[in-house]
Amino acid sequence: MTSYGEMFADHLSEDSIRGSLSTALLGCRVDCYPVVASTMDEARKAALESAPDGTLVLAEEQTGGRGRFQRTWVSPPGVNLYLSIVLRPESSALSQLGMMASLALAKALQGFTRGAAQVSIKWPNDVRIGGKKVGGILIENVLKGDRAGFSIVGMGVNVNLDPGEYPEIRDIATSLRRELGHTVSRLALLAAILGEMEELYITIQGGGSVREEWSALLDTLGRRIRVAWGDQVYEGYAEGVDGEGSLLLRRPDGSLQALSAGEVTLQV
Ligand code: BTN
Repeated sequence: MTSYGEMFADHLSEDSIRGSLSTALLGCRVDCYPVVASTMDEARKAALESAPDGTLVLAEEQTGGRGRFQRTWVSPPGVNLYLSIVLRPESSALSQLGMMASLALAKALQGFTRGAAQVSIKWPNDVRIGGKKVGGILIENVLKGDRAGFSIVGMGVNVNLDPGEYPEIRDIATSLRRELGHTVSRLALLAAILGEMEELYITIQGGGSVREEWSALLDTLGRRIRVAWGDQVYEGYAEGVDGEGSLLLRRPDGSLQALSAGEVTLQV
């Protein structure tokens, strides 16, 4: 007899992924691995060997999954989504890739939570439910002289993970299953994410902006924050974001500083 767990345990393979996607560009080629060090590295190799715009690289497990600031991304097998997409964007679209990816994930999650939980984005692109991180974005750009090279958009999503099993993320992370109280189909979620992302990618490739929709989901604005970037720490009031997604921080001396990257701590 099929158990509840088996019924919902979806298998990620190139065929099952292709069968569930409804996108034209994203996932035009799918490379799916049982285990890799990092999908970022596999996607980079594929891109260097001429993989087309929209190539999706995915793994069931990562042994060296990485996040921003050289952190480890917890990547056990069979429960989550670990993916990297090879993009070949116009250079004018480059600065919006992070906004595009976090907004796509947030919109897909909203479709699954249907208002039952609050989905938000912590600047620049941590996707959160109820204030806890459910997904993260890592962008690596490879530039070729003056010409646009390619970008790898990496995304990790805690889908059916039990964060309680991982002391290093237990207090700061959540998963869709934890929030909804039931197992979620990774294939269905993947299809929703790529569907949202394709629309946004077409927008930014055509010269449009996703800033307004993205900034409406930011939980960072209108608050006192601290931003750490390298050795620097900036404190102030998060007043807004500019067209490239840089955070506009009002400093105690009244000056306005634009920050393009950093790690935010929200202050109470
Ligand atoms: C973050 O620090 O929030 C970004 C996390 C990005 C994790 C994903 S999982 C798929 C891809 N492969 C990696 O090694 N990292 C990204």
